[in-house]
Formats: sequence, C-alpha cells, structure tokens
Amino acid sequence: MPDDLSADGAVAASHLPFQALSGDTLWTGVERALDNRAGLVFVTDADGFLLGQVTLDAMRGAIREGAHLRPVTLGDLAAPVAATTALAPALDAGGRLVGVTERSDRRCLAIAEPNLSHAEFRNLLDAFLSTWISSAGDYLRSFEERFAERCGATHGIATSNGTVSLHLAMAALGIGKGDEVIVPDLTFAACANTVMQLGARPILTDIDPVTWCLSPEAIARAITPRTRAVMVVHLFGRPAPMTEIRALADAHGLFVIEDCAEAPGARYDGKPIGAFSEIASCSFFANKIVTTGEGGICTTNNSDLAQRMRMLRDHGMRPERRYWFEEPGFNYRMTNLAAAIGCAQLDRMDAMLAERREIHARYVATLRDIPGVGFPPPMDDRSEPVVWFSCVTVPAEARAAVIKACAELRIDLRPFVNSLSSMPAYRRFARKCPTSVAVSRSGLHLPTSRMPDARILSMLQSAFRSVLE
Ligand SMILES: Cc1ncc(COP(=O)(O)O)c(C=O)c1O
Repeated sequence: MPDDLSADGAVAASHLPFQALSGDTLWTGVERALDNRAGLVFVTDADGFLLGQVTLDAMRGAIREGAHLRPVTLGDLAAPVAATTALAPALDAGGRLVGVTERSDRRCLAIAEPNLSHAEFRNLLDAFLSTWISSAGDYLRSFEERFAERCGATHGIATSNGTVSLHLAMAALGIGKGDEVIVPDLTFAACANTVMQLGARPILTDIDPVTWCLSPEAIARAITPRTRAVMVVHLFGRPAPMTEIRALADAHGLFVIEDCAEAPGARYDGKPIGAFSEIASCSFFANKIVTTGEGGICTTNNSDLAQRMRMLRDHGMRPERRYWFEEPGFNYRMTNLAAAIGCAQLDRMDAMLAERREIHARYVATLRDIPGVGFPPPMDDRSEPVVWFSCVTVPAEARAAVIKACAELRIDLRPFVNSLSSMPAYRRFARKCPTSVAVSRSGLHLPTSRMPDARILSMLQSAFRSVLE
C-alpha cells in the first residue's frame, strides 16, 4: 500500500471544501457539494460551530419549490447531521468543525461516477437560459472544434452517442452490403452491431497479447477481397500501433475507422489517436473519460467526409437547401445542452486523466504482490496510454469469487466485456480468437472515478487475498 496514505479513514486534508457558512446562498451549497464530490456541505457559523448539513438532494428539493427566489440561506436549510451519509463531521471539544471522515459502513465505491463540477453546472444553466437547447448553439460549435483539435483533426461532427457515431462514420464511407469490416473480438458490442446494421459483415479478429488491440499481423491475416475497412478500437485506454496499421491499410486500399471511446487523450508515435484514420469516433457516455451525459463525435481531416457526415446526421438534408433531402439520413444530432457539459469537461480533461492515472497507480501498489494478480502488459515507448477503467487480471476460475468478496465490502468491480466470438449473435463472424477469450475471462475493472484512500485499499487487498492466497 502507498505509504503516503493514512489508515484512519480521513478523506480530506482540509475540511474547507466540505464547509459552508450559514449565511451562504443555496447556490454556494450546490457548487461546493458538486466540487467536493460528497453531495453535501456541513453548515457552520462564522466561528466554525457546526449547525447541520445540507445535501444536494435537499437543495434540489428546495430549488424545485422555488427557494432560490427567496433570500434562503444554507442556515435555513441545515438539517441535523444524519448517520446515513457517507461523510461524518469531526468536531473539536467546543463543537467546531475540524475535519471530515468517511463512515465505513456507508461507503460504497461505485465502478464509475460522472465527475461533474460547478463548471459543468454553470455551462449547463447558461445553455438552458440561452434557450438554445436543441442541436445548434455556441457550446456545440465550440465542443466540436475543441474536441477535434485534441484529436488532431480539423472537423468534429458531434452526435447523440458513440454508437451512432460509428454508424455515421461507416455510412459516410459507403460501407454496406457485401462488405467486410475487420473488428477486434474484444470490444463493446456496438462495434459489431453497427457494421451489421449497415448490411456488412464484422470480421471478428483476435487481439494482440501485449496491446490488447488489433495488430497489423492479425489484420493482414483477416483481409479478403471483400474487406473495405478496419475498425481499430483503442481498448481500455491502450493505443493500437496506428502507424503500422495505417501503412497496411493504405497498401490494401482500406479505410480505417478508429474507435476512441475508451481512450481519448492517448497517443501513438507522438500523435493523438484519432489522427490516423479517415474518421475517428468517440463516446461521451457517463462512464467515459469525458462525458456529456449521452453523446458521441466523429472527427476527420477530410472536408468532403465532414460535409457528408453533417448531412447524414441531419436526415440527409442539404445544409444550404432547407427540406431538400439528398438521401435518407438519420437524426444523430447532439444537443447544445450536452455540449455545454462537454465544454467544461474538456477544460478539466487533463486533470481528470491525471487523477485516473494516480488511482490506477494506487491499485497497482496495493495488489501487485498478491499471487495470481496481473496488470495490462507494459506498452512500448511509442505508445502513450491513458487510464479509462483501471484493469487487473486474476485466474478466470477465481474472478467471480473476487467480485463477490469485494461486493460484500461495497466495492463494485466489473468483469471485462465478453469476447464477441463467445456470444451466439456474433459467433458466425469470428476468426480464431484465443487471446481475446482468455483476456476477457480473466479481466476485472476497478472503480476509477474516486481516489481510493488507505482504508479502501486495505479492504480491497484483504478481499483479493481472501480469494487468491
Ligand atoms: C469501444 C466502444 N465503442 C462504442 C461504444 C458506444 O458508445 P455509446 O454508449 O456512447 O453509444 C462504447 C461504449 O461503451 C465503447 O466502449
């Protein structure tokens, strides 16, 4: 376990992020409860004497009833400190708030929680008040431009989720009946589903034992005269070797689509992932590194493809000619409200990535000496992965017991996705995929949204030890 962590369950070096004054407004309470990620504030008088607590739930209720129209303060809303919240106030002998501690019986470490601060809240409110709540608006334009730039692309076409963005990308490339698209066997089902929805065949191909992504060698073996495209998925934050895959695709006249849903921010050969393909796709679902609630995007450096995707995203309508439909398209648009959240997330993306890296480092330090525990293989120095979910591997036959032991301590672990080839809906498309099957059966995701403290790490370690030693 890292030695910089005390084992007394204290969760904060300072109690100040959790404190608000009785004269503070409702909005101060809302923003502080978002920023401290505890969902509550402890209310004190100016001398620090504890008066009570106000939870985000209570503030939501007050806003629904119009409390913000009156000069209501947090002192008016303060309720007695409840034993049901995850945090408890620590008081000095005189009753002054001096710290906060976690209530161990109330702690539940969820596998994923969106990281929403006052910045997302302010943007969302602003977008709402602007009344630009549908698929046009300043936030949308800014989000498309800024996210594309981060991916090394000149165009961003925001969508309603990361599944339709894959569908839109392939539709714009003209992939359809009779075509084959090479797809990794270890990925979320949307990758294969969208190929099938276009009438094409996903060719499920094994992953590389080091990168856990498609390798140029595996792609080369899967190419047939019907292959039109390769969908590269940068799995669990790990970049695929894109320089080599791009060269192979060019040699065979194939399109490349990069699915960056699990790895925005990762780089290969010094370039951001997403910059190697005709079109890259990303997801902004609530468990992703950057979230907009639901949302997705296609990025590209090709202006013809960008124009075509904009048209297809909007029912197939020509942007400059209202109600003139060039071809049957879709409604895959993102809202300005979602983009408002996304803009704040982009401002915080580097800090959130750094936090995820630190969370994973703590798990590695805690679990590495336990027999049977493994981690994703180290990558070469051309690859710059990011942490999406922290991953560990355990012997496949022990995995369910590890999940159960952790669940009993209210620590929520998740198995890796099933290899697509193991499921009847996809089996007919699969090549031999032994690595994908083995990784899928032994992998576990750890909660990666909150920094685990010494007590959680010690509980996690005991749970793993109780099964594996
Ligand atoms: C690799 C990958 N592709 C696509 C998707 C689909 O994204 P969304 O949930 O936004 O439709 C996901 C989401 O979980 C994913 O992990």
